[in-house]
Amino acid sequence: WRILVLNGPNLNMLGKREASLYGHETLADVEVLCAAKAAQLGAQLAFYQSNYEGALVERIQQAREDADLIVINPAAYTHTSVAIRDALLAAEKPVVEIHISNIHKREPFRHHSYVSDIALGQVVGLGIRGYAYAMEAGITHLESQVA
Ligand code: DQA
Repeated sequence: WRILVLNGPNLNMLGKREASLYGHETLADVEVLCAAKAAQLGAQLAFYQSNYEGALVERIQQAREDADLIVINPAAYTHTSVAIRDALLAAEKPVVEIHISNIHKREPFRHHSYVSDIALGQVVGLGIRGYAYAMEAGITHLESQVA
């Protein structure tokens, strides 16, 4: 299986930004964790981060051709972007949404996600380990589709 892990704006600042909320690990650490999980699952990993909505949209469009599963932390675009939602719908691949922090116990504007109702599920509040849980859940879903 080919897994695309996508990260939205400011996640390149992981480890520096609001460490009490997001921890001390960096986005490079997240990539190492995802690569290890992909190897364990026998899957291929593509890992991408952008601060630009349009760049994320274009990478999601490409996933129609080059991915079987999308794991996405849309970051702030979670709460604002109809464009990312529409791109995910157009990609026609299973999506697992992940957030490092628990968005449901933060400010009310973070409680709504434009992605959650089109996702298989949402992993929130479990730190960067959540990326591995999201990958595993997505692969379990794909395996159950072919079984
Ligand atoms: C986040 C939560 C979002 O509300 C926030 O804008 C982020 C990170 C998380 O991983 O907890 O940038 O997606």
